[in-house]
Amino acid sequence: MKKVLLIIFSGTKNTLKVGEMLKENFESNSLEVKIFEITKPYTKIENLDSYDLIGLGYPIYAFNTPKIFLDYVLSLNFNIKQTIFIFKTSGEPLFLNNSSSHYLIKKLKKKNLNILSETQFLMPYNIIYRYKDNLVKQMYLYSQALAKLLVKNILENKYQFIKYSLFNIFISNLLKVHNIGGKINGRLYHVKKKKCIKCNICINNCPVNNIYLKGEKIKFSGDCTMCMRCSMYCPTNAINIGIINLFKVNKPYKFNLIIKNKDLDGKFINKNTKGYFKLFRKYYQNLDQQFKDANIEC
Ligand SMILES: Cc1cc2nc3c(=O)[nH]c(=O)nc-3n(C[C@H](O)[C@H](O)[C@H](O)COP(=O)(O)O)c2cc1C
Ligand code: SF4
Ligand code: SF4
Repeated sequence: MKKVLLIIFSGTKNTLKVGEMLKENFESNSLEVKIFEITKPYTKIENLDSYDLIGLGYPIYAFNTPKIFLDYVLSLNFNIKQTIFIFKTSGEPLFLNNSSSHYLIKKLKKKNLNILSETQFLMPYNIIYRYKDNLVKQMYLYSQALAKLLVKNILENKYQFIKYSLFNIFISNLLKVHNIGGKINGRLYHVKKKKCIKCNICINNCPVNNIYLKGEKIKFSGDCTMCMRCSMYCPTNAINIGIINLFKVNKPYKFNLIIKNKDLDGKFINKNTKGYFKLFRKYYQNLDQQFKDANIEC
């Protein structure tokens, strides 16, 4: 039986959700799947050599791969017999996202590794603003179908990469500055004492152990990856995220409830969509065609 390893960094769990969708599809094709989440303290992956297929999953940050993910993945010793595929989630179908894996792929290729494909999944924004439930439903349903298509393509050994230009690479490189900006801004995070119920959810779940208690006070160190997990999952919206506080999205998207809600048709983006969301229309039209060609229902 073929073995699949999905190595995932996921701040607010969108990418993890996509990983679970992939797992379900691999398993229904009788493959054995393990999900490994990157969090601190970084642990070794047991028997890395024993996996045939490696999926690398990350959320796009400022048109780039998150540094925590990149550093961990590039420290691993994959073997040249393994097949690697990349999946990433983003809040928008912006063309500037297209080169986010450029550096990762370049580095993996230098090690002579076999990279099969790269796929972008649209999932709800965890920063900037909250998407409406009907769009969230659409994103989820399309991601589910795309996960099915991706697994089909992987099993058929289809090479597929996202196209991008030198301009894309230039912008991605420029925005790598967000790593430093994030660390500086992370120092500005603070908790509103009156709102905090001392549940410690933030402390226990920060993927880089950046949050700690000093006496009664919750403190933030200088290692923030800007993943938004603490601020999104805080039950009382007590965390202020510094200069980007206006762009905070508090409370996780309740995918299970949203999917079951029959009042939502999941067709927020449709052929009549205009304005800002026109971009999304193109993304979904493209997927509709791919699903049709592959006989996959969405
Ligand atoms: C710091 C930061 C930067 C982001 N930058 C982008 C971006 O450049 N393009 C985009 O489409 N979405 C961007 N997003 C949105 C996330 O990629 C998106 O919501 C993703 O699905 C989050 O995945 P996660 O829940 O696995 O962390 C950004 C989110 C954060 C927190
Ligand atoms: S998650 Fe929110 S309420 Fe809970 S300890 Fe942290 S700041 Fe306080
Ligand atoms: S402090 Fe919050 S935003 Fe920063 S890495 Fe930890 S959980 Fe993520």
